[in-house]
Amino acid sequence: MSVSNDVPSGEPIRGLAPDQEAVEAALVERVVASFDGCGSPRLRELMVGLTRHLHAFIREVRLSEEEWGAAIDFLTRAGHITNDVRQEFVLLSDALGASMQTINVNNASYRNATEATVFGPFFVEDATHVELGGDLAFGAPGEPCWVEGRVTDTDGRPLAGARIEVWEADADGLYDVQYDAAKRAARGHLFSDVDGSYRFWALTPTPYPIPDDGPVGQLLDAVGRSPLRAAHLHFMVSHEGARTLVTHIFPEGDPIGVRDAVFGLKESLVKPFAQQPAGTPTPDGRPLDGTWSRVRFDIVLAPAGA
Ligand code: BEZ
Ligand code: FE
Repeated sequence: MSVSNDVPSGEPIRGLAPDQEAVEAALVERVVASFDGCGSPRLRELMVGLTRHLHAFIREVRLSEEEWGAAIDFLTRAGHITNDVRQEFVLLSDALGASMQTINVNNASYRNATEATVFGPFFVEDATHVELGGDLAFGAPGEPCWVEGRVTDTDGRPLAGARIEVWEADADGLYDVQYDAAKRAARGHLFSDVDGSYRFWALTPTPYPIPDDGPVGQLLDAVGRSPLRAAHLHFMVSHEGARTLVTHIFPEGDPIGVRDAVFGLKESLVKPFAQQPAGTPTPDGRPLDGTWSRVRFDIVLAPAGA
């Protein structure tokens, strides 16, 4: 859907002298007109929209020059801390809800298809393959969790051979790659069975903070927000002819819940992780000394292009 570029230059600012209003509004129009020669209609639409919203923000909040300087300093520090493994701008987008809003815009709800949520920075392409029923914790600390379900299309037909990528933080709140870029634990991939079913051992998810030792962490601190993400288990599920699903499941009863630092929690993705006392027999006979948990997550994929 295309948005008209010919919208007026924003609401007049209340209480502003007419001459000042005219100066500010005229600048918006001059900047907008500077994109008239852009050869790409889409790029022009993006730049005009950005200009109008940015100027509306500056004018509405009456941005001071000190505040403008602080914003430039913030972005500069975000640039300096960003490298191959640390992406502070994505973190900023996450913390402002911009990542989640982009996901909403691009993954419209489709019938009974499972909802999408944020991707996050900790997916890796080369996670180990695990057999159905295998353990993808690979020694990471945490309580064992049995995860099972079925992958189907929106008419309930099983999707055999769906690729299921799973990744999560350990009980200390860290992903494998945060210890060492080459480490692989608490992640893996598997394929759904002929009837669409899948099962594996992972870890019961626990809350953990987004990386908060940089400018985004300082911003969250300044505004009195917690860097904690609601506990979750990441999934990416793909199958030919289906829209690839990037999502998480969240344990029911997590007190972080909707205060998730990146606004990723959706009610439909909250699942009961049933706690099992020590000594409870496991589904596959795996001997376990301590407590464990189990959860069912049935995954419904929308058709590609939906
Ligand atoms: C994550 O879930 O892994 C994540 C998402 C957004 C920012 C940081 C971490
Ligand atoms: Fe995560």
